[in-house]
Amino acid sequence: MKNQIEQLKRTKNAVILAHYYAPAEVQEIADYVGDSFYLAKIAKQCDADIIVFCGVQFMGESAKILNPDKKVLMPDLTADCPMAHMVADGVIEEMHKQYADLAVVCYINSTAALKCKSDVCVTSSNAVKIVRSLPNQNIFFIPDRNLGSFVAEQVPEKNIILNDGCCPTHAKITAAQVLAEREKHPNAKVLTHPECIASVVEISDYIGSTADIIAYAKNSEATEFIICTEDGVDHKLITDNPDKRFYYPDPRPCCTDMKLNTLETVLSVLEKEDKEVIVDDRIRQGALVPLERMLELAK
Ligand code: 13P
Ligand code: SF4
Repeated sequence: MKNQIEQLKRTKNAVILAHYYAPAEVQEIADYVGDSFYLAKIAKQCDADIIVFCGVQFMGESAKILNPDKKVLMPDLTADCPMAHMVADGVIEEMHKQYADLAVVCYINSTAALKCKSDVCVTSSNAVKIVRSLPNQNIFFIPDRNLGSFVAEQVPEKNIILNDGCCPTHAKITAAQVLAEREKHPNAKVLTHPECIASVVEISDYIGSTADIIAYAKNSEATEFIICTEDGVDHKLITDNPDKRFYYPDPRPCCTDMKLNTLETVLSVLEKEDKEVIVDDRIRQGALVPLERMLELAK
């Protein structure tokens, strides 16, 4: 299957982008593997005719919004991030009524329709920097309350209003699970994604995006780590650091949507070109504005 995929990539001038949560064998056949921010930048720059995005809907959608003339395919169009939808109807409009200078800051893990109602997008790797740089005092952070409260801690000078959404995979990780691992591995550093709940963040040594966690583990002199994020990162962590040990909260965090990207589904979509990401043009134009502002402000 890997050989067939390689051949189809060449003949169709296709490029494969994969998130670190995709299964290891999918990361291995990808041309680019990274966190959401890196993949959004690559999607904007790349000059292939076809982008196969091995991630979840909001990632494929963002690639299409940034690159309307390219064919963007997903191995499984049903791979979705449940958090992307977690903003109640009317709540953004209500916030605008309450705060005249409100900026709506939208985590990239969101639908294109929500991006249309937002001033700027962020990812976990640039949220603090971007929020700090905004002229607005009042910020409505959607949809993730956990990333929002992490940003609020780092940017205390702003009034950050949280929305009631979260990632089911990260929010399930408890401080008790992390402490149980630390009991077994007392020298391990705890590296945590900011989608985790505050009590997990508080007992962590480092908080960052998937790419930041991977970079931290590589550059650290420590040899043992407890990883509080989805276990797809394990592939890159063990490839980069064969002599280091990585442990996970029990049960190991798993995003089932990300695991819908398989060699079978990648090969099938490359053969048939049938699972194309389509974004309505009016929505595309609205969602492009906060996405491009993010790319600009993150520089
Ligand atoms: P990163 O931007 O850190 O890769 O995170 C994406 C994501 O979906 C986290 O759950
Ligand atoms: Fe969404 Fe959570 Fe899966 Fe990331 S891990 S894609 S935030 S459900």
